[in-house]
Amino acid sequence: MERPSLESLETPAALVDMTRVEANLRRVEAYARQHGLKWRPHTKTHKVPELAALQLRAGASGITVATPHEAQVMASVAEDVFLAYPPVGAARLERLMRLPAHVRLSVGLDSREALEGLSAAARRAGRTVGVLVELDLGMHRVGVQGPSEAVDLARQLEATDGVEYRGITFYPGHVRSPVGSQDTVLKELSARLEEFIDVLSGAGLRSPVVSGGSTPTLWRSHEVVGLTEIRPGINIFNDRNTASLGACAWEECAYSVLATVVSTAVSGQAVIDAGSKALAKEEGLAPGGGYGVLLERPEVVVRGLSEEHGLLELAGTSWRPRVGERVRVVPNHVCASVNLHERLWAVRGGAVEGAWAVTGRGWGAP
Ligand SMILES: Cc1ncc(COP(=O)(O)O)c(C=O)c1O
Repeated sequence: MERPSLESLETPAALVDMTRVEANLRRVEAYARQHGLKWRPHTKTHKVPELAALQLRAGASGITVATPHEAQVMASVAEDVFLAYPPVGAARLERLMRLPAHVRLSVGLDSREALEGLSAAARRAGRTVGVLVELDLGMHRVGVQGPSEAVDLARQLEATDGVEYRGITFYPGHVRSPVGSQDTVLKELSARLEEFIDVLSGAGLRSPVVSGGSTPTLWRSHEVVGLTEIRPGINIFNDRNTASLGACAWEECAYSVLATVVSTAVSGQAVIDAGSKALAKEEGLAPGGGYGVLLERPEVVVRGLSEEHGLLELAGTSWRPRVGERVRVVPNHVCASVNLHERLWAVRGGAVEGAWAVTGRGWGAP
């Protein structure tokens, strides 16, 4: 494909600033190395194997996925894949078992039913799948509720063919406070994790892998006692939520949606061609509300969204855009926006460097 100029791109277009991506990867790799943590980025954020390959070249020890289709797509570049999602259902299991034999697969689960289905599928496929027992450390989404349940499941795992107990996993998705205000919640989480680890090891169950972490808690992961591996996803691109929590600087936001002003007819606002089908209608954590802000003018908020229209509020700015002008929007939650785009454009210093198909979207051909 011939490289188009940034000016000629049809909007809305998802842009990735490669200088910023590379800096974000260097920073997380250095942090993980400094604290003796493995870094297994969650690729659900970008869903692009070329970007997973970049993360692996930058020092990631393996990757995380949320769906079997993501696992299939990422298997073209990654040999060590963790499915951080309960592997329940025949179709899901069948797709997982179709991963190339050389892929070292592990999954997180919290039930006997999931374990039985997985072990039966693994035996049929002649594979051994690693399992991390999922713990609920406060998010209350998935995860066993107490240490004795974790011991029961780990023991059952050890007695079952086709699967191998590799450790424990959790996701601190309930921690959505600014980085500087996470002391109490992280102390509680760390104490609870230690309790799980102690009870498991008291029962003779060593947990070589203790996998956890998110982007909001990323830079405080070393405070979580016993953690061996971090799984940030958003951090490769960052977004408005992440910046508003102080988990990245504004200059570390690498993803934006290029949009064109299509109307200024209604006073006090400008309308862009990026609506909910390009930005995602995700409520955010930033105090100013709305669905995103302009990269170059963060005081300008996307106040409303229809499917193809984004409404920029102009009350807080002296900027008066003209029809045809282009802007870049940083969405509240980058993963949800990426998932709406067929293609990501790699840009550097104002020039388009390349493009990637977002091949990890959807569920793949049956
Ligand atoms: C299980 C799991 N691990 C890791 C992550 C990555 O966290 P973040 O999205 O904050 O980067 C997520 C995000 O949804 C997740 O669900």
